[in-house]
Amino acid sequence: MSTFGMQQVNSPGLNSRNLFQLRDVYRIYGEEPVAVHALDGVSLDIHAGDFMAIIGPSGSGKSTLLGLLGCLDLPTRGSIKVDDTEITDLEDSERSKMRGNSIGFVFQQFHLIPHLTALGNVSTALLYRDLTKPEIHERSLNALNMVGLAERFDHRPIEMSGGEQQRVAIARALVTDPLMILADEPTGALDTKTAKIVLDIFKNLQNENRAIVLVTHDLEIAEQMDRVVSMRDGKIIADDLRSERTDSLEDRFWETGKGGKLE
Ligand SMILES: Nc1ncnc2c1ncn2[C@@H]1O[C@H](COP(=O)(O)OP(=O)(O)OP(=O)(O)O)[C@@H](O)[C@H]1O
Ligand SMILES: [Mg+2]
Repeated sequence: MSTFGMQQVNSPGLNSRNLFQLRDVYRIYGEEPVAVHALDGVSLDIHAGDFMAIIGPSGSGKSTLLGLLGCLDLPTRGSIKVDDTEITDLEDSERSKMRGNSIGFVFQQFHLIPHLTALGNVSTALLYRDLTKPEIHERSLNALNMVGLAERFDHRPIEMSGGEQQRVAIARALVTDPLMILADEPTGALDTKTAKIVLDIFKNLQNENRAIVLVTHDLEIAEQMDRVVSMRDGKIIADDLRSERTDSLEDRFWETGKGGKLE
């Protein structure tokens, strides 16, 4: 296929449905001369079935990119299409609806509501759906079951370990059956053993209809993802499939030293 005259975008997994398309996206915080160019001309396609890590040093723009993918924020300029809809043209309310229907977000610090049970927390994602109470109950329980926590449905966050709380947060992200599950450092607050359990849950959630995108500092986790997008200074400096990678991720960020973690 000739790409002459077109902007070239690395696009592993070319054969599956394109869920997200970013073209020449900039996100600039503040005004010159002190403006921060958090994203500096990013183009990226995300396909159904992608199991993807975003890595890069602190401040390289990973969370900013994830916030744009999650429709939590808008670019300063550039185009973002979600399933062929240009989201930068949408009204706020339409964008919120798009977010609620298409995206599940998982945060490093879980962000659960303390006075609600596990089931109650998961159910919050379905409140604005046209569903009956029993339907909400059944779907939420089902999502808790998918993360192995069905028997903890009536526990409050304070009664659960960090790993369990993160699994509830993942259940809340997946209960709407979104096109894309986004997670910003989902294992960042967990010990190594618990982080592995959480990563295994993400692996189990992988299917050909959705994309899973994790921001991580942990190169050992990134090595296990099918696709790794590497960022530096607001730009994507590499985007490759595990099967095609020739360098180690640590070599790519050689200045990060030992331990398999980016600082
Ligand atoms: N709301 C904001 N206002 C001003 N600057 C911001 C804001 N959010 C992020 N930045 C700046 O944009 C740049 C990219 O930030 P971002 O949070 O995307 O980095 P990151 O790669 O997620 O870093 P980390 O690994 O530390 O989480 C940084 O220089 C940061 O200071
Ligand atoms: Mg971040």
